[in-house]
This record gives sequence, structure tokens and C-alpha cells, in this order.
Amino acid sequence: MNTTLQELTSRVAAAFEAAGYDPALGAVQTSNRPDLCPFQCNGALSGAKAYRKAPFMIADAVAEKLAADPAFEKVEVVRPGFLNLTPSDAFLLERAAQTIADPFDGVPQSENPMTIILDYGGPNVAKALHVGHLRTANIGESLKRLARACGHKPMGDIHLGDWGLQMGLVIAEYSVRHPEWACFSETFDPETQSVPTIDVIELGEVYPSASAKSKENEEFKNYARSVTATLQSGRHPGYTALWKEILRVSVEDMKKSYARLNVDFDLWYGESDAEKWIPELMDILRAQGLLVESDGAMVVEVAQDDDKITMPPVIIRKSDGSSGYPVTDLATILQRQRDFAPDEIWYVVDKRQSLHFTQVFRCAHKAGLVPESTVLSHFGNGTMNGADGRPFKTRDGGVMSLSNLLDTATEAAAEKLRGSEHVDASQLDESARRIAIAAIKFGDLMNHLSGDVTFDLDKFMSFEGKTGVYLLYMLTRIRAVLEKAGADPDADAVIHSIESDAQRALLYANLSVGEAFRRAMEERSPNLLCDAAYQLAVAFSSFYHDSSVLGESDPEKRETLLGFCRLTRRMMLKLLDTLAIQPVDHM
Ligand code: ARG
Repeated sequence: MNTTLQELTSRVAAAFEAAGYDPALGAVQTSNRPDLCPFQCNGALSGAKAYRKAPFMIADAVAEKLAADPAFEKVEVVRPGFLNLTPSDAFLLERAAQTIADPFDGVPQSENPMTIILDYGGPNVAKALHVGHLRTANIGESLKRLARACGHKPMGDIHLGDWGLQMGLVIAEYSVRHPEWACFSETFDPETQSVPTIDVIELGEVYPSASAKSKENEEFKNYARSVTATLQSGRHPGYTALWKEILRVSVEDMKKSYARLNVDFDLWYGESDAEKWIPELMDILRAQGLLVESDGAMVVEVAQDDDKITMPPVIIRKSDGSSGYPVTDLATILQRQRDFAPDEIWYVVDKRQSLHFTQVFRCAHKAGLVPESTVLSHFGNGTMNGADGRPFKTRDGGVMSLSNLLDTATEAAAEKLRGSEHVDASQLDESARRIAIAAIKFGDLMNHLSGDVTFDLDKFMSFEGKTGVYLLYMLTRIRAVLEKAGADPDADAVIHSIESDAQRALLYANLSVGEAFRRAMEERSPNLLCDAAYQLAVAFSSFYHDSSVLGESDPEKRETLLGFCRLTRRMMLKLLDTLAIQPVDHM
């Protein structure tokens, strides 16, 4: 179904047309004076010049046509030519009934579903997930769910960093620590020999120490480089077997962290999977004459005349013969095109990588790796900062691991729950996890994705204000009311009438959710869903204070009040689910 705003727009557009004006002038928006009217249309002002008429004359003519439309309770022309619009209750009730009957909860479904690949997460194998991985995971997951909710076909790909020098460093370090392992011998035979099971705790510590060692020890660094090259050549079965084992352990561990965050991926490809596409990529670049030599390296020029910043060429082969990050991304684009022919590829990656993506996208289009029409977008996310405005650190200045951060938040949530008489011990752990995740996710996602976020656990965890915890709390209250009334919370809502302003306002908030989804998708901005969820909670709160749901004795009115609760709960759950936030029953 269309959104309430779209429906009102089509009616006002029809009135413009009937009055002899361009229907495109009929765009309705939510009013910036909600105290006067919920909606407005400023089309008469925009059209005045073209029609050489005073705006109010146009507005008057349109208002006259709208007088016959039962969707409007009141249409008021305000000088110089605004149309203030108040829909009728009959219209709102009809919209509510349609929304309730709609399998998509009033979220308009795309007529041209797109296949979208979302590249997010992007963790590096053998390095523990840290706070820097939080925003890409939250944002990527919610964009994926948003696209799905709007009828598109999104696919999440984690794009593991499983191939570069970091892998060589880790294998080199293991070979120093455990020279006796058979996999380090060139005669290792994977058919008859096996690699030892890697311990995840040791693995977590191997990379940092290898990385530190390589910075002060030139010899080790060169050794790690040669291990990397040998691994990548595929000619050392022992290295390959060990690499697979590292990958297995690391991915298993990552899956646990992502599961805590309620984040999951359709594709678990890594940079290593791009490797087999590199020869074809090179052929394409060569055949197109795009590869040029520059200081011993092979590059593709991607600068354009209108560039405001210097746009360096993409380095395809370094002077030492190795290839780097851009080549992996280009080869991955080729793979994605061949496997899925996506309409769009969305990269949710730290905004500090924006130059890299601009170069890669230009090169991909220049070389025709994807059709001209395929949209490649980088959603550059900001960082999660500490109170000092710098990326969030542990107390001693180290990088905060993600599991550490989640543990802290979960403990804080459990602490709050222990005092609650509504939560029994068997639910405590799972509820604490959900509340902690809701707090962190909402604190992240309520901001535009490109901005930085200050990690403030006390603020995120507050029961008051615009927080995930407040929203979950509101849901438990709705549930409690329905339970006390002996009403099935999941039954379809029925709303017979509107008895007060608070009820009307709550209905508006519910009927605006579809539009919030539409806009969030159009602007690729999950934060708009956060706004809608918060507005819904605020409207519910006034409704709750204003109406006595449990005290109502008239059966029809009572059904309506329960209907408001059910509809609000359904919309809230839909919004939260799209943000990948899970509700709790009690708190
Ligand atoms: N692993 C990379 C890093 O740690 C991020 C990968 C982002 N995605 C991509 N397609 N380049 O910086």
C-alpha cells in the first residue's frame, strides 16, 4: 500500500489538476506547525510565478475542490498561500484498517525490487573484533533489513580480511613458536598429515605480537612477507592447511560476537575468494588499455577534470610485483557481477576509506566490470568515540574489544534487571543481552550514519529520553496492559473510533511509520526509523496517561483501546526488528 503522505498527496494533486493547475504542485508534507494542523501543502506558493497569480488565489481554488473530498476534515488557506490540511477521522480509521490488513504493515513495497549486495562488517581474520567494528555491523545490518522490508533483495557479505600480510604475519609467528609443527615442512601432505587445532586465546594474541615484532625486526618482517607470498601462490600445502584452520577458528569466534549483536551475513566470502578473479580482471584492464606504468608500478588513471581534490591513480601492481587492497575490491566486484549481477553494491565502511572507494568505483566503471547503471555506493560511517572525541579505548588506552564492550553493557543491564520484580532468574541473561544490545544499537543508529557517535553507556542505558531502553520499556508496558486485560497481544488490532486528541495523535504516529520506511530507504538512513520509533513511544505515553484502558467498560471502546495498544506494539516491533533490536517481554 502507499503511505499516508502519498495518499494525501494524490488527493491534493487531483484537486490541483481539477482546478487547472499542475498536479505536481500537490505534494503534502507533515506540518511544521502541528499545533495548527497535521499536514500542509505549499504548492500554491511554488506555482504562483508560473501561473502569474497570487498564491492564495491558487490555494483557494484548490481548497474549493478539496471541500468535496471526505478524506479532509478541514482545509484552510493561510496567507500568503499555504494549505493547512486536517484529515477526517473516517480517513484515519480507514487507513488504520488498511494498515492492519496489510501483510507489510503499511510499508510500501518497491515496484522494481533491486538486488543489493551489502558489504559490511569487514573484520580481519586473526584479529579480535573491536569497537571499531561496531558501527559498520549495526548500520549494515539495519540497511539490509530496511531494503528487505521495502521489498528489495539485499544480501549481506562480510568480506573477511583473510588474505593479506596479516595472514603471513600470523603464520610466520606460529612457525617461530611451534617449529615442530608438520605444516611448516615443505613436504607436508594434507592427505595424511593434519595441522594442530588452533587455540582461539593464543590466536588472539599471536597477531598483535607478530605485528609489533615486524615493526622493530626487519628480518621477521621480510620473513612474514615471503610467507605471505608463498601462501598466496598456493604452493605450500602446509601453510594453506594452517591458514584454513586459522580461518575456521576465527570465523567461529566472529560468528559468536555477531550473533550477540543480532547481525548475520548471507555470504561469508573473504578477500581470498577474490583471488581467482584477478587474472580475468588483469585481462580486462589490459585489453581496455587502461593499465599504464608509473614509477615501476602498474596503475589505472581515474582522475576527472572536475575533481576538487587530487585523485591518485589506482595501483594495480606495486613495483615489487605485489597487489594490494584496491585489486581485491576490484576482483570482488567482478565476482559479484558474475554471481549475482546486482543492481547496487553498498559498502558500509569507515568514512576514512572514502578515497579508496572513489578510486575503486571509478576504475570498475571505466573498465566495465559492472554496467554503467550499476550503482556502487560507499556509506562512510563515522567512528564510535570516547568522551575525549577520539575512537573509544579501554581505560589503559588500548583498543576495546567488542566482547569486552558487550560484556560491560550486558552486566550493566543485568544489574538493573536484578532489582526488578517482573523478571525471573531464568530470563535474566537473555533479557540483559537484549537490553544491552538495544541500548548500544539505538545509541548508534539514532545518529546519521556518517556522523561520529560518543559512546556513553549511562546515556544509552537510560530509561528516559530517546534511548533503545526506553523503547523496550514502552513495549513491556504495552504488553503488560494487554496481559492484564486478558487480551492476546498478537491478535489483529481493531479500532472503531477516535475519542480524544491523544488517540488521534497516536494514530498519526502509527500511520506515519510507512512513510518513515519509505524515506529511510530513499535516503538510505536508518536513523529516520529511530525517529519514528521514538515518536511512536512518546505518542503512546500520552495516550496511556489519557485513556484508562483497563477501566473502560463499554466493550467497543475497550476493543478500540486494546486496538491502539496492539497496533502500536506491532509497528514498534516492526521498526525495532528492522534496526535488528530484539524486544524483551518484561523488565
Ligand atoms: N578489512 C578491511 C579493513 O579492516 C575493511 C573491508 C571493507 N570492505 C571492503 N570491501 N573493502 O580495513
